[in-house]
Amino acid sequence: MKAIIPAAGLGTRFLPATKAQPKEMLPVLERPAIQYVVEEALAANANEVVIVSNASKRAIEEHFSPNKTLAEHLAQAGKTAFAAAVEHAGSLPVTFAEQTEPLGLGHAIRCAATAVGDEPFYVLLGDVLVPDNALLPRMLEVSQHNGGASVIAVMRVPHEDVSRFGIIDAVPVEGNPLVGHPELPVSTATSSSCHFEMSAAAGEAIEKPSVATTVWEVKALVEKPPVDEAPSDLAIFGRYLLTPAVMRILEHTAPGAGGEIQLTDALVELLATEKMFAIEVSPDEGFDTGTIASWLETNIRLAQRNAQLAPAICAAVG
Ligand code: G1P
Repeated sequence: MKAIIPAAGLGTRFLPATKAQPKEMLPVLERPAIQYVVEEALAANANEVVIVSNASKRAIEEHFSPNKTLAEHLAQAGKTAFAAAVEHAGSLPVTFAEQTEPLGLGHAIRCAATAVGDEPFYVLLGDVLVPDNALLPRMLEVSQHNGGASVIAVMRVPHEDVSRFGIIDAVPVEGNPLVGHPELPVSTATSSSCHFEMSAAAGEAIEKPSVATTVWEVKALVEKPPVDEAPSDLAIFGRYLLTPAVMRILEHTAPGAGGEIQLTDALVELLATEKMFAIEVSPDEGFDTGTIASWLETNIRLAQRNAQLAPAICAAVG
């Protein structure tokens, strides 16, 4: 299955930091945010990762291209871990599609239509990180359990924030296939904890996130509703496993909220002919980097889970 990562947005909220560099290249700890997202797609066995970008974002292409000179220089200086990190980023198998005009998320996905073809596909929004890489496999499992239906991720948000998101109306699925799943990690995390333990294998990635297991059948969706019109507090959270019908619908989806071609509007049309499901993501598992506040919070929370960084960050912020 192919994975699309839309990365052509303007990054307005981070100006002037994003004047000359793409917002997707802002660091979360030691890596640019988009590298986590590419690695998540590859961990879910995506056989191609297509980044939808534009000419002003060449830094993303450069990041995922080899830099032999730098890697050799680091290796000769004995900085083998850094040399390996440079080689790793340059070796990740990504391709690029161009979105020449900022016409919305739905339009960005349509720009990858040729690469995706007539197959189901993942969409991973770069503003959202799921560092334990466990969400896409759960979404695939729910899809397979329901005849290959589309599955999206949702997270509960404070009611006053619903107008920033796509919001779903949904009913819980009876006989939820994920409840009691033996492979799901057990919750050990507290959301702002400074408790951490060394992972012998990785030397990082300390806490196992708690995982929400509720599966919903989606009955309706609305993009950025007014607070008093939102059908729930369940917000679409940046991960989608979609059937090929969505790509066909996007070919004729008209501009919606904010004058942009919205993926959510295509999903509304999909519901007329196909079932759709949603998996609830726990706040311990999924991280937002879309605003300065959430990007900072994500850096702090991930640093609190990192063996090298936790002592300093916990001393600074508790
Ligand atoms: C997009 C989607 C929205 C979703 C949000 C967070 O909005 O259109 O439905 O809730 O991402 O994943 P954006 O943040 O691009 O305005």
